[in-house]
Amino acid sequence: MTKNNGNKIDRRQFLGIAWLASVTAFAGQTLAALFRFIQPVSDGGFGGIVKAGMVDDFAPGSITLVKEGRFFLSRLEDGSFIALWQRCTHLGCSVPWEEGEDQYHCPCHGSLFDKMGEVQGGPAPRPMDYFPVIIENGEVLVNTEEALERKAFDSSQTTSA
Ligand code: FES
Repeated sequence: MTKNNGNKIDRRQFLGIAWLASVTAFAGQTLAALFRFIQPVSDGGFGGIVKAGMVDDFAPGSITLVKEGRFFLSRLEDGSFIALWQRCTHLGCSVPWEEGEDQYHCPCHGSLFDKMGEVQGGPAPRPMDYFPVIIENGEVLVNTEEALERKAFDSSQTTSA
C-alpha cells in the first residue's frame, strides 16, 4: 500500500476522484438531455405554438397532417377547426388518417377514430386528444403546449374561422 505523505494523493484516491468526476459528468449530461427532452420548445415546433397555415388554405371537410406539430388539422363542414394529436390514446402509436376508410386507423392494435377523433372500435379508452386552435389575422395557430383529454366530442373543442 502506498503511503500518503499529506500533500500528494495516492493511486487509490486518484482513481476514486476520477471515478466520481466521471459519474458526475455522466449524470450532468443525462439530466441536461432529459431536461431538453421534456422542455417545451418555443421555435414553432411541437410543444409550442405551431403555425399551420392560412384559414383559406384548408377547405371545409379537409383533414391535413401538420407534421411539425404532430397533429391533424380538420376543417369541419361549418368552417370551424379542430386539431387532433396524432397519438393513439391506447398505447401511444402514431395514428394515420385513412382516406379510403374515412377514419383514423391505428396500425398497432386496430383502434378506430372518426373525423372528430371519437372512438369507433378497438382498445382505445377515450377519443384522440386535441390542441387549442387560435385564429389570428387569418392564420391558423395551434397551441401544442398541452394536449387536452375529453370523454366525447363537443363543439366547444372547435374554433370558428
Ligand atoms: S396503440 Fe393504438 S390501438 Fe394500441
